[in-house]
Amino acid sequence: MAIAASPSAVHPQRVREVRSRPVAMSVQHLPRDLARAPGDVSPEQESLLATALGLSEQARSWPGMARPTRRQWDLMVASDDVEAWVIAWPPGGAIELHDHGGSSGAVVVAVGELLETSIVPQPSGSVAPRTNTIRAGGFIQFAQHHVHDIINVGEVPAISVHVYAPPLTTMTYYRIDEGDLEPAATVHYASGEAVP
Ligand SMILES: [Fe+2]
Repeated sequence: MAIAASPSAVHPQRVREVRSRPVAMSVQHLPRDLARAPGDVSPEQESLLATALGLSEQARSWPGMARPTRRQWDLMVASDDVEAWVIAWPPGGAIELHDHGGSSGAVVVAVGELLETSIVPQPSGSVAPRTNTIRAGGFIQFAQHHVHDIINVGEVPAISVHVYAPPLTTMTYYRIDEGDLEPAATVHYASGEAVP
């Protein structure tokens, strides 16, 4: 499922700051499927990655993304089945631990370098962090309930493409409390916009 973005046909005005303050609180059950085994990637996830890779060149020159002073995003592609975002990260720009609701996803770094920390369940029942440096041209893929944070640890801005299917409807943010993953807040989305 390769999808061509049409910058003039989507929402060039929708370059927005990421909302770091949750707009709704919700306590949910902890995810049961925090991470799949390496190599356990579905055909759907491969399709999302192909879409993200196909959009990465356009992302490099997407309007308003070259010199971010804070993390900002814009919608590249939106359909009933899939959506794609371009995100610009200044040095030090980050998003805290979160999941993607019921969406699977793929992230491709188009410019710069990002550090992902994902949360991996341990045999003891607790969780542990696993870090992954993603350089330009690199990518990550994830299934539902993947929990991670991302930061630009480089000295220059980074640009990444994030593709989700189905489109995001919720993101739950987490904290780690004595080795346990605790949901802290849930942001709800409708048509790419956070809603209360
Ligand atoms: Fe994410």
